[in-house]
Amino acid sequence: MFLKLHKWSETNALALLVLSFVVVTIGGAVQIVPLFYLDNTIEEVEGMRPYSPLELAGRDVYVREGCYVCHSQMIRVMRDEVERYGHYSLAAESMYDHPFQWGSKRTGPDLARVGGRYSDDWHVAHMHNPRDIVPESIMPAYPWLARTPIGSERIAANMRAQRMTGVPYTDEMIENARADFRTQADPDNGDVDALLARYPKAQARNFDGQAGISELDAVIAYLQMLGTLVDFSTFEPDASR
Ligand code: HEC
Repeated sequence: MFLKLHKWSETNALALLVLSFVVVTIGGAVQIVPLFYLDNTIEEVEGMRPYSPLELAGRDVYVREGCYVCHSQMIRVMRDEVERYGHYSLAAESMYDHPFQWGSKRTGPDLARVGGRYSDDWHVAHMHNPRDIVPESIMPAYPWLARTPIGSERIAANMRAQRMTGVPYTDEMIENARADFRTQADPDNGDVDALLARYPKAQARNFDGQAGISELDAVIAYLQMLGTLVDFSTFEPDASR
């Protein structure tokens, strides 16, 4: 009987169309309907905070240069990935990313937890010419980043735009954006405690080792922060969800 029905549906274009539609609708509903009554699909994780102004600026350079074309920022739950890169990525870790940087191709390694893996000097040399550090590297060189100064004129506007997408920047953060931006790259001439109160775990130092604030300072501040906000030695997945 089923065989007959099968044959009929496969030889009758309209029936096939209607039946496929029904099947796809059921499949879609199963995935979509739960989202209507779950308040939140991202579990809250201690330690996550919005990017500091300098990190945000570095992230913009990262996006502008297309680093995501070769680098993902999402560690999957597979054992080989976790052993290589560290704890698998949590949804909360990219909740302040607009747009997200998960990437879709790994020509180079995943960068979700690259923060703290190398020294600033390593990054300076690597960005100047990756082949000086990894002879077989096919990563392009980005020597202009160190030569290009980066200003903070647009950072407050950028944070306001991020706030419109849901990132919880406070008025205080936006008012102090330019000061925090400078302090993070030049901590001797700024209020580091205030920076840390607004952005816990922010690393403040002269990242590129030269005078002035360059795009490289911002990129390294961003890279050195990646994956460092959540303390995975104390993190426990919420089993009730
Ligand atoms: C054409 C592809 C490509 C692009 C574009 C690219 N990279 Fe890479 N990247 C690589 C490859 C391949 C490696 C591994 C070899 C090496 O370390 O140079 C790498 C390595 C790295 C590493 C070291 C990662 C680790 O865990 O060892 C960092 C950090 C990095 N890239 C940052 C960047 C940044 C920042 C940009 C954008 C400014 C960028 N990359 C653009 C291909 C790329």
